[in-house]
Amino acid sequence: MPTPPTVQAQAQALRELIEHHARRYYALDAPEIPDAEYDRLFRALQDLEAAHPELRTPDSPTQRVLGQALQGFAPVAHAVPMLSIRTETDTSDAGALEFDARIRRELGLSVQDPPVRYSCELKFDGLAISLRYEQGVLVQAATRGDGETGEDVTQNIRTIRQIPLRLQSRDGTCPPLLEVRGEVYMRRDDFEALNERQRTLIAAGHRQEKTFVNPRNAAAGAVRQLDPAIAARRPLSFFAYGLGQVQGWADPTGQGPATHSAVLQALASWGLPVDAHHRVVEGGAGLVAFHQDIERLRDRLPFDIDGVVYKVDDRATQDRLGFVTREPRWAVAHKYPAQEQMTVLRAIDIQVGRTGKLTPVAKLEPVFVGGTTVSNATLHNEEEARRKDVREGDTVIVRRAGDVIPEVVSVVLERRPASVGAPFDLVQRLSGRCPVCASPIAREEGEVDWRCTGGLYCPAQRKHALLHFASRRAVDIEAWATRSWNSWWTSGS
Ligand code: IVH
Repeated sequence: MPTPPTVQAQAQALRELIEHHARRYYALDAPEIPDAEYDRLFRALQDLEAAHPELRTPDSPTQRVLGQALQGFAPVAHAVPMLSIRTETDTSDAGALEFDARIRRELGLSVQDPPVRYSCELKFDGLAISLRYEQGVLVQAATRGDGETGEDVTQNIRTIRQIPLRLQSRDGTCPPLLEVRGEVYMRRDDFEALNERQRTLIAAGHRQEKTFVNPRNAAAGAVRQLDPAIAARRPLSFFAYGLGQVQGWADPTGQGPATHSAVLQALASWGLPVDAHHRVVEGGAGLVAFHQDIERLRDRLPFDIDGVVYKVDDRATQDRLGFVTREPRWAVAHKYPAQEQMTVLRAIDIQVGRTGKLTPVAKLEPVFVGGTTVSNATLHNEEEARRKDVREGDTVIVRRAGDVIPEVVSVVLERRPASVGAPFDLVQRLSGRCPVCASPIAREEGEVDWRCTGGLYCPAQRKHALLHFASRRAVDIEAWATRSWNSWWTSGS
């Protein structure tokens, strides 16, 4: 039966949309829609192609491993391909139990057999990198690219202080050829500081500068920066999580440690950064407990994660399980709720802070993001709101990660309605007066922020000042009490 023209048109539209967003994400490091939305489009196309297999043309984005080598970097052929892992999108416990059940089935284990041991890790949200050490010296660093061929980014990676240029292997246990796989990422505080710096630069007239959507894009952009001097100014970090090609393990087997967790330990002993949250657990119940524990911790971590990763710990069992297409059967990524979502911006309010600073705040159609419902998000300042061209009625991407205030990262222009509001203009909106006390507003030369000039006359400033004072007094009282206690104690003894 021929494919109905409407279905054909739908598939075509989805393909074009996916191609467009894939380019924004992979080539330009500047996505326009949240990952969750991209995944939804991708799955819609997969479903359509499953129902109408004749639509699955070789050039369909579903048939392609994304991420291609960029022009400007030398290609690097990976001796051991850099694979990806299957993602479990069911964020409930069932996702973990299902993985354990599948592993047991594939290994032919019965209920009487002991639980499988798993190495559990965080799923860092950055860019996969392969580091090649020869005789303990870092000789090459490459991106994943399409998994077979990546880009030589050695110069940029060398600027990451956490990455040892020479492994510490005093006992000589480090193999003469060792490829370490891991993730380059940016800590949240480093990302916030970088964006703050970028905002200041833009406000000072450096219009070619930009702020970054999230730490992952900032990290990916820095690693693939053609100028290593610029890369060096971007604060990057690294975690090792696995191996690529290895030759000459010095142990009796010649194969290295028997378990993945012992591999991680070895990597750490050679001075590579390994995240301390990894843990070996038993069976599905162990996976569920790990997933839950890390979910509770997620906001307090200094970096973004989008889930956890479970790996069968025993390496011989990993080999038995092998691969399906380009994904190992012995590992899975178990997701958490996304930290970026789309929603509609209903209005822009202006808040007055302690020092009179006027901050535009987006009033949103409530949206579940990063594990809570968000209805307000900061737009930082007027310059930023204008640069992002955020208008009332727009569909926007909201990001809430860690304990940082939720923020509007960008507008989804393709969803802009005809009835959208005018470009944001703070002064016009306020008719030049503080929205709380009606004092004139002002902006000093070279400053980003507009302020209310009312000082303590302004009730909003008074309220914040009082709160600030009270919290500082609270600290002072505590310090005073401690000092008194200490002096009483020493004088009395
Ligand atoms: S293991 C053969 N472990 O997630 C297994 N990957 O699709 C190879 N990732 O782009 C990957 N944290 O960069 C592994 N603890 C972790 C990870 C991790 C983040 C990334 C990796 C890759 C993607 C997997």
